[in-house]
Amino acid sequence: MSLRELEGIAQQLVADNRGILAADESTGTIEKRFKAIGVVATEETRRAYREMLFTTPGMEKFISGVIMYDETIRQKTHTGMPFAEWQTRLGIVPGIKVDKGTKPLAGSSTEKITEGLDGLRERLQEYHGLGARFAKWRAVITIGGDLPTQYCLHANAQALARYAALCQEAGLVPIVEPEVLMDGSHTVERCAEVTAETLKRVFDELAIHRVTLEGMLLKPNMVIAGMQCARQADVEEVARGTIRILRRQVPAAVPGIVFLSGGQSAEVATAHLNAMNALGSQPWKLSFSYGRALQAPALEIWKGQETNKEAAQKTFFQRSKCNSAACAGLYTARMEKAA
Ligand code: 13P
Repeated sequence: MSLRELEGIAQQLVADNRGILAADESTGTIEKRFKAIGVVATEETRRAYREMLFTTPGMEKFISGVIMYDETIRQKTHTGMPFAEWQTRLGIVPGIKVDKGTKPLAGSSTEKITEGLDGLRERLQEYHGLGARFAKWRAVITIGGDLPTQYCLHANAQALARYAALCQEAGLVPIVEPEVLMDGSHTVERCAEVTAETLKRVFDELAIHRVTLEGMLLKPNMVIAGMQCARQADVEEVARGTIRILRRQVPAAVPGIVFLSGGQSAEVATAHLNAMNALGSQPWKLSFSYGRALQAPALEIWKGQETNKEAAQKTFFQRSKCNSAACAGLYTARMEKAA
């Protein structure tokens, strides 16, 4: 695939106020989410849940791409159409999580390194054959005490860059996700500092690894205080603080920034994205690639019951619509009540 085609896919993923549904929970993570609503996780319940989301009528107006897990991209609708084909027919780009999760970083007490580089070239070829046109790799950075260490920032940035280079070689747009966690009692200022340093490292490594910036997307955290911090920044402060750091660290050649929600409530994640876009135009598109903030309200209603499917889809549709409005800076709290 040519670079021009990669650039086209990256642009398509952030065009027309649309964003990405992250539905790539690993088997362990989705089991945790199902437990909370009293549903037993089996291959079939996971498939049925994903089918509920992916067949939401009209979602393609707001959703440009879906990130799936290895099991999910091999699954089909109950009528027998592979999910990737279903999405492609709707004009939604199929995506795949390709990292293999985090493991303890050797020699560091509590930090993590993301695994999955071994055999990645071959796996990417297979996923391309299954219809995927973009991929995701998540690195995790923890704030606390002396953390993060330079060692952790470096190791994770390098892995992200190696992954991104392999994706572009295979014709997939890499979503580069360095997540600075919200866990902890750190201040919003500390989050800004660590996010800036993380992004600086990541873009240095992307350059060394010859990654074409026009053919990738960045998936960062927002600049936000730790969940246990006594002073929480308001929506406007988060928006301004996040944009300030991104403008300093993210080259204008990157077509889009698609945020993760990271544990923010659905409505707060929407309000933050909206406030950023309301600040005026930026060098890159600002959109969403939410997991929990898009799914949690619908999951709560679905509860594993076919009879709840329509109501759950309506709720997922509404969250997608609100986030799409936030891409234009046109979201208002009234839109929630209208639902
Ligand atoms: P959250 O929006 O729930 O943080 O999930 C996004 C994601 O893809 C994390 O890797």
